[in-house]
Amino acid sequence: MIRFDQVTKRYADGTTAVDDLSFEVGEGELVTLVGPSGCGKTTTMMMVNRLIEPTSGRIFVDGEDISKVDPVKLRRRIGYVIQQVGLFPHRTILDNTATVPALLGWKKSTARARAAELLDLVGLDPKQYGSRYPEQLSGGQRQRVGVARALAADPPVLLMDEPFGAVDPVVREQLQDEFLRMQAAVRKTVLLVTHDIEEAVRLGDRIAVYGEGRIEQFDTPGAVLGTPATPYVAEFVGADRGLKRLSVTEIEPDDLDQPAVARAGEPARQAAARLHDDDARWAVVLDADGDLHGWVGIDELSLAGEEGLVGDLAHRMNAWVPVGAPLKQAFGVMLQHDAGWVAVLDGARFLGVLTPAKLHEALRRSVDADAQGVARDEVSFDSVADA
Ligand SMILES: Nc1ncnc2c1ncn2[C@@H]1O[C@H](COP(=O)(O)OP(=O)(O)O)[C@@H](O)[C@H]1O
Ligand SMILES: [Mg+2]
Repeated sequence: MIRFDQVTKRYADGTTAVDDLSFEVGEGELVTLVGPSGCGKTTTMMMVNRLIEPTSGRIFVDGEDISKVDPVKLRRRIGYVIQQVGLFPHRTILDNTATVPALLGWKKSTARARAAELLDLVGLDPKQYGSRYPEQLSGGQRQRVGVARALAADPPVLLMDEPFGAVDPVVREQLQDEFLRMQAAVRKTVLLVTHDIEEAVRLGDRIAVYGEGRIEQFDTPGAVLGTPATPYVAEFVGADRGLKRLSVTEIEPDDLDQPAVARAGEPARQAAARLHDDDARWAVVLDADGDLHGWVGIDELSLAGEEGLVGDLAHRMNAWVPVGAPLKQAFGVMLQHDAGWVAVLDGARFLGVLTPAKLHEALRRSVDADAQGVARDEVSFDSVADA
């Protein structure tokens, strides 16, 4: 959808901001450009909507060489979220959001209806916020309006230059989550610039790591973190890349341990005897459908009366995550509940538990899979925990 073909940008003072750059962003793909300040990210982005012209090389949008497209027409197809949001202070939030449709000559009522729809999409109630002015919004809310405005004319391509840069880390994470949810629904082709590797990893389908005006590595977040292509990339992604990898590696059913299981409707003493034979201290309690009911300890089961059922003794199990969630989420839940394991569910159905040893194993598997370029379940190795 966006293709750079040997693009170089040299400014009048001789600075080479972008040096012989070639890469491609697929339709519906979100690519993050990440690198330190001054490495040419903004220059790259602004060449896509022709706010800056390349010195040499060609850029294609949807197969068209953009040097041959009228810049005004080009920009109508490209939403642009700039670093400092840049809302008009004397226009209401609704009118700010409707800026591009208004420029395109949409009927006022249509433009406003569209703006209201977009504000809703970015989590701002148009009834509550539409008539306010930018200064009456928090920084995070203004950034949301910036995103809504860029999407208002429904452009297939979105350029975002540090769109969540001006807010504190908590709001930032919130905005990132909202943006990902939105992107899953609208599937724009997105080029997003950031200097923050965490953000790049979190948002990108693929990441372009920039050195000085050049791409050092262009790959999936997992591959960049797992197998940095150059010492520069290794340095940039940081020594804690194992931790970052936790946030991009998803829990798969194969990662899980199968602990002892008791049924909610089962006599407690019967379950106690079985656990005893299996040398288990506790069991996951499931209902008749295989849904998670809770957990129970062998001591409680042993002390139960003749009539006692497992279900009556079970504790609520709060430490759980859905399958497919990132390992980081499982780790967080483990810490939060001070638990030695977390249950992994598919809907309500219990699939197994993730223990610290299994978590480590899953992480190692994903590193090795990226290094070998194969799927995670094709990798075998002896984990530290097994040794
Ligand atoms: N108009 C300009 N004239 C001269 N040099 C510029 C201009 N704009 C940017 N630069 C230089 O080009 C390089 C890349 O800048 P930029 O693309 O803004 O980087 P980034 O967005 O990664 O911080 C920097 O060295 C910057 O100083
Ligand atoms: Mg910049």
